[in-house]
Amino acid sequence: MNKRNIFLIYIVFGVLWIMITDFLVQVYAPTDLFMIFQRMKGILYVVLTGSVFYLILGKIEELNSSKEQEEKLSTLINSMVDFVNFKDGEGRWLEANNFGLKLFQLEDVDYRGKKDSELASYTDFYREALINNEKLDEEAWKNKKITRCEELLPVPDGTHKYFEMIKVPLFYNDGSRKALVVIGRDITDRKQAEEQIRKSEKLSIVGELAASVGHEIRNPLTSIKGFVQLLQENDNKNGTYYDIMIKELNRIDHIVGELLLLAKPQKIHFSTYNIKEVLTDVVSLLEPQANMNNVSIKVKQLENVWIDCEKNQLKQLFINLVKNALEASDEKGEVLVTLVKDQDHVIINVEDKGIGISEQFLERLGEPFYSSKEKGTGLGLTVSHKIVHQHDGEIYFTSEEGVGTKVEVVLPIKNAKSLSNS
Ligand SMILES: Nc1ncnc2c1ncn2[C@@H]1O[C@H](COP(=O)(O)OP(=O)(O)O)[C@@H](O)[C@H]1O
Ligand SMILES: [Mg+2]
Repeated sequence: MNKRNIFLIYIVFGVLWIMITDFLVQVYAPTDLFMIFQRMKGILYVVLTGSVFYLILGKIEELNSSKEQEEKLSTLINSMVDFVNFKDGEGRWLEANNFGLKLFQLEDVDYRGKKDSELASYTDFYREALINNEKLDEEAWKNKKITRCEELLPVPDGTHKYFEMIKVPLFYNDGSRKALVVIGRDITDRKQAEEQIRKSEKLSIVGELAASVGHEIRNPLTSIKGFVQLLQENDNKNGTYYDIMIKELNRIDHIVGELLLLAKPQKIHFSTYNIKEVLTDVVSLLEPQANMNNVSIKVKQLENVWIDCEKNQLKQLFINLVKNALEASDEKGEVLVTLVKDQDHVIINVEDKGIGISEQFLERLGEPFYSSKEKGTGLGLTVSHKIVHQHDGEIYFTSEEGVGTKVEVVLPIKNAKSLSNS
């Protein structure tokens, strides 16, 4: 009821009261008691209206205090650095803090009373995440207790954030759903630190393993290979078997070689070398393999850039990258190697239009033994990462499944004479 209506009711009631009671007093009250009746009805009017005012003031006080409580609650949840959301028993949003609204790009949306699936239509980017929320909420309802789960949310800058979601379902006494409290905590940093520890532990195990068994394997391997070659020369019946044996022995040798590259410590000697020469050497080395697979290797914008480096290691690095690009390419594919230079850095890109890398796999690239190939070692990129870091550089992978992959290696040009296009 608004103020105007209350005022009108008061006026109408007051006028009616005066008219009706005046009429009743005039008709029924004995003339000698007329004044007493008049006074009594006046007092009654004051008491009645006074009680109504008292009730109204009480209500206003109640309203103010509940508003104050609401403000306190909203200040509290908005000051939290977690995502906080209250939903009713049917999953409709009742209250969400600013962090949550910003997270799901719902800042300008009148979200109250809407379900996640309805809110999904306000944001293209978080559509799927919001729809998925409903499924996760349902699990919490079914569990009938505090449920924790991890959610991977995309961020517009192309990265992801890990959230630990805590869902607290509340029920009425009869068991029906009352409300759901959702709290989401950003645990991306923790996750990354855990991942880093996992990777470095794996790497140090590989390093130790390589150092201890690498040489032990290589020595007998060399003698076995020698004897197989000797047998092959004197036996012209089993040629194919010997070929296979030598091929497989070479494979073992290659794996051990990569393991040894990972083993520490390793002495490396830096010298000033033209990176263009490294790249042309690598391309001519891998051209036969490319031709065999009907893939062409194109080199563009190669200019002379001298950098401080260990040339054999850089060769190894680009062999690994170009080889991977070749192996990922279909027939008639194309691998593009380009070189860009700015004042302090040289950027070498190796691009292919091959099978691409899935998002989950992309995160784990460089981890030892992580390979998608039947005969892969999963060591090539581990070695590549190590070489790039030894050169104080960075390596970045961008890839889309079915479209292709781009590997970007950024190396500093330190203390080296840099002569372009000479
Ligand atoms: N250019 C690329 N295109 C698609 N996948 C790639 C590419 N480069 C690397 N990969 C993926 O990374 C994995 C690890 O590569 P790597 O360490 O060289 O080991 P390997 O080549 O022995 O499998 C490969 O198995 C492959 O799945
Ligand atoms: Mg490889």
